Amino acid sequence: MSVFERPEVVERYGRERAQWRDLYPSESWILSHLPTLSVHTVLDFGCAAGGFRNLFPHAQYSGVDQSLSMLEKAKESHPDSLFWDNLPDSGLYDLVMSLGTLPHIADWESRIWQLWKLTRTHLVIDLRLGSEDRTGTYQDVPYHILSYRRALRFLNCLNPQSLTLHGYTHASNCEEFPEVFMGVFLLEKRRSN
Ligand SMILES: C[S@@+](CC[C@H](N)C(=O)[O-])C[C@H]1O[C@@H](n2cnc3c(N)ncnc32)[C@H](O)[C@@H]1O
Repeated sequence: MSVFERPEVVERYGRERAQWRDLYPSESWILSHLPTLSVHTVLDFGCAAGGFRNLFPHAQYSGVDQSLSMLEKAKESHPDSLFWDNLPDSGLYDLVMSLGTLPHIADWESRIWQLWKLTRTHLVIDLRLGSEDRTGTYQDVPYHILSYRRALRFLNCLNPQSLTLHGYTHASNCEEFPEVFMGVFLLEKRRSN
């Protein structure tokens, strides 16, 4: 069973990742730079138990997660929101966000392309960065560290209006790497995109 299906992990995400005060400093710094009043629709990829719904009480919030146990908890806790096990094929959301999730996905580039396509104005994502590409494990889940060069080159290919990065070197959850650069990115879309 994946770590993200375990009842105690589901319960922990519902409790510990559900308020502004629960955010890591890099996450709250980036999210504080969003014009939140103009965020009317939010799509959260890797939403876990849907706790980030509480960060945007006035917006229509939709969450996507592959863990059915997380989705069950999310639907129960936030009946006013929509939850799916896969990204929608179409649609535009003022804010698309994905925190703590892309570092677990091997094809992170195509997933970011998908998220960017669904973004109307702002995309917030986090990546784990290092001097070279490496893959380890976090419990039973893969944990991908990307080279700074590769990650920045890729994000620049999206041709954003602006790109803001906030991050720091921090102890990692991953057994193989004691420390890693935790980077949270805010990308603003060009109006003409
Ligand atoms: C570390 S948790 C982060 C949850 C939340 N975003 C946060 O920051 O607290 C990662 C979440 O991403 C989900 N996830 C991992 N890979 C996924 C994928 N390929 N598609 C959808 N969800 C995925 C997991 O089920 C888990 O709920």
